[in-house]
Amino acid sequence: MTRAESTRVLVIEDLVAGYGDTMILDGISLAVDPGEIVVVLGATGSGKSTLLRCIVGLVEAWQGRVLIGGRDINAASGVGREEILRGVGLAFQEAALLNSMTTAENVALPIMEHWEVDEPTALMLARMRLARVGLAGAGDKMPAELSGGMRKRAGIARAIALEPRLLLLDEPTAGLDPTTARAIDELVLGLKARGDMGIVAVTHELGSINTIADRAVMLATGTVIASGTLAEVRADPDPRVQAFFRRELLPQAARKNLVDDLEWRA
Ligand SMILES: Nc1ncnc2c1ncn2[C@@H]1O[C@H](COP(=O)(O)OP(=O)(O)OP(=O)(O)O)[C@@H](O)[C@H]1O
Ligand SMILES: [Mg+2]
Repeated sequence: MTRAESTRVLVIEDLVAGYGDTMILDGISLAVDPGEIVVVLGATGSGKSTLLRCIVGLVEAWQGRVLIGGRDINAASGVGREEILRGVGLAFQEAALLNSMTTAENVALPIMEHWEVDEPTALMLARMRLARVGLAGAGDKMPAELSGGMRKRAGIARAIALEPRLLLLDEPTAGLDPTTARAIDELVLGLKARGDMGIVAVTHELGSINTIADRAVMLATGTVIASGTLAEVRADPDPRVQAFFRRELLPQAARKNLVDDLEWRA
């Protein structure tokens, strides 16, 4: 392992993965440093969520390496694997809170599972995480009583429950009104400001991309078709990249066709 690999929060090398016999990711490489937000872009179905699932071992890699803090998740098993995964938080695309328990209990769940603390302590820590995402006071609500934006925040609170070095966010602002979306972008920037956490955010919201991205990676047909700083990716001549960013210049009516076109290409 090179020195650079061990200091990075995430290194993915030539990752190949899929479901059943269907390959979805065909040789993906990317790296994330502490204090950095890498945005993953790509049309619907291009494999963004699958990539995040591979990082946390929910989808097995067929080939390639996923190093978290320099440690290979696929080479580890049992306690070693659990220890690596404790350092990663994933906020799912659908917040995926358990409806039978309160919001605070949802956030306390990973804390009780992985840290040796009693329930009152876990709930206290959970309320601290909820406060950090602007949900102080919502801990006793059931998930069904939360708005869409609040559910997204609660999902992020659960993802940061164990103070991970690597935070994965799947569409944190999709489907939210612009004000709520901006508030979540600010929250993500606040988490980054701690400096020791690396963040991978999947998003197709141009507002979010412009606000939070230090670097961007664009996926299509299972491969990385562009990567670099946001300015570099924006300047990439690949027509799929250009179509993605041109949306912001087009009137609303023309956008849908372009998005359909992008989906068709994927
Ligand atoms: N559990 C699964 N079993 C089989 N195929 C799946 C599964 N989950 C996703 N797929 C397929 O993998 C491909 C990539 O899906 P994925 O959810 O990773 O895309 P995405 O880029 O996150 O899309 P979106 O922007 O719509 O969230 C799609 O063709 C999808 O149908
Ligand atoms: Mg997805």
